[in-house]
Amino acid sequence: MENIKIKVNGNEVEVSPGKTVLQVLKDLGIHVPVLCHYEPLMPQGSCRLCVVEDRGVLKTACTTPVEPNMDIKTDTPNVINSRKLVLQLLFSERNHYCMYCEVTGECELQDLGYEFGLDHFEFPTYERRFPVDNTHDFIMMDHNRCVLCRRCVRVCSEVAGHFVLGEMERGIDTMIIADMDVPLGNSSCVSCGLCAQVCPTGAIIDKRSSYLGREVQSEIIYSNCDMCPVGCGMEIYKKQGANFIVKIYGDWNSDVSHGLLCKVGRYLSLYDEKDRVVGIKLKDDFGYRRLHEDNLIEIFKNKLNNAVAYVDGSLFNEEIEMIKEIFKDKVYSLYPNNSPIPTNINLSELDNKEFYVVINADLNREYGAVGSIVKRNVIGKKAKLMVIDKEFNSLAKIADYVFNIKDPNLAMDILKKQKEVVVIYKDITEEEKNLLSSLNNAKFLHLPKETNSIGLQKYDIKHEKVEAENVFIFGKNLEGIKDLPIQNSFVVVFTPYEDEVLRRADLIVGITNGFEREGSFYNLEGKKLKKEKVLKPDFDVLDLKSFLSTVLGKTEKVF
Ligand code: SF4
Ligand code: SF4
Ligand code: SF4
Ligand code: FES
Repeated sequence: MENIKIKVNGNEVEVSPGKTVLQVLKDLGIHVPVLCHYEPLMPQGSCRLCVVEDRGVLKTACTTPVEPNMDIKTDTPNVINSRKLVLQLLFSERNHYCMYCEVTGECELQDLGYEFGLDHFEFPTYERRFPVDNTHDFIMMDHNRCVLCRRCVRVCSEVAGHFVLGEMERGIDTMIIADMDVPLGNSSCVSCGLCAQVCPTGAIIDKRSSYLGREVQSEIIYSNCDMCPVGCGMEIYKKQGANFIVKIYGDWNSDVSHGLLCKVGRYLSLYDEKDRVVGIKLKDDFGYRRLHEDNLIEIFKNKLNNAVAYVDGSLFNEEIEMIKEIFKDKVYSLYPNNSPIPTNINLSELDNKEFYVVINADLNREYGAVGSIVKRNVIGKKAKLMVIDKEFNSLAKIADYVFNIKDPNLAMDILKKQKEVVVIYKDITEEEKNLLSSLNNAKFLHLPKETNSIGLQKYDIKHEKVEAENVFIFGKNLEGIKDLPIQNSFVVVFTPYEDEVLRRADLIVGITNGFEREGSFYNLEGKKLKKEKVLKPDFDVLDLKSFLSTVLGKTEKVF
């Protein structure tokens, strides 16, 4: 379509049709205050802070499309007074006594107050008290701070796909509610935290990050979550000059997750409560004794003859490469890592499909970002959902079809009749694999069990059980040790967590974990992603990557 001509503050400009006035003004570098508007969400035009004048009429810039002959003025007295009045009403409607608010200093409403020089309340305020909902594990909702912008409602449905938040009553009595007005902690909320990320005021706050520091006091580090193989993009706020993370936001620019994060990445990754292995422990006749770091490399090298290594999918590519080099390719995976049916769809292609099949994965509890994509299409766009699971699956309540895996024929009949189906699956048997592979209208997305299962595949690390005099095990999930033929071997384990199976080990080495380590991994789509090191370890633990480089003579000192 041809460009159209409009006037902006007296200057003629050519703009592409289909854009909103706000987009055009932004392209021109003209600042327009907004409150209900939030870039990734559908505009709704409710706060009226973005008003501009077009031929004498005030219009909301965020929802008004450009049209020929517009004469937009952004700073007339009419525009400024209207914006000021809106702000004065907002400040008066509920309690915005900034001194006592957790987000003071980074609140969008407070910033607008400063921008428009509001130094007193124009109208009576603090007349009504609204509830504070502190029932949720991670977020608190203080209705006194709410400006009813509905960003939280929109993000919970349009992006996160959970459709938990809504509103009740009208006008000044409007309240943001969860489900049918139940406390947030008792609602169907899955704790993705997106509502807290987009709330412009202190109405929804992340409890555990509260009072830890402002964004301006933080260093922002972009990284990818390695808590599962989705690999969501993270914006990590680390307190400047300190060794802790204030909060984690979903990165809207991530081409994997486009802003999504789940509870595990946003919250649980920050509060690891498992016991850590500290130091280096060598078994002798009296139990374990702490070994000095300087002796480790010598023992390690002495044990490399007749040795094999086992790794799990928590290892980064760089670590796998070096372990392969050190153990001359005698490296095996602790768990199976092959995709039964190869993945042939990307996460960014997953939206707007008509029929989803989810097999053996409760996407409200694991692979949360994938769950959001499926749910926003099923609940929001009326796509069909079939859930096949041998156990309880919380997605069943929004599914059109629910099957127990024992009886696949009826399910197959339904699937064959569809134009296209997207099959998202975790564990399947050989028989189920054969059945599903016969679908010629299907796209497949495999959900590997481990973060870097695809990396293990790419490095050709097979799941085999091989006997050897010396067995080295590297990884986080040690369950697989129980099945290894290591009764007569000298066993060395490099791991971050204490585990009962470690009693079988002769040498135990505590290694870095989570935000203490960096490296790359392949996510479930096969994209190579980077995890950044953000924190220094609080414990006496070894960085595996540095240690392996030292063994290979690539770096001089490991500690
Ligand atoms: S945490 Fe997520 S699921 Fe829960 S209300 Fe907020 S956006 Fe919705
Ligand atoms: S809780 Fe926050 S995001 Fe939701 S409507 Fe209120 S101010 Fe807006
Ligand atoms: S879906 Fe996976 S990668 Fe994304 S935030 Fe959750 S745990 Fe992390
Ligand atoms: S930002 Fe446009 S109406 Fe709220």
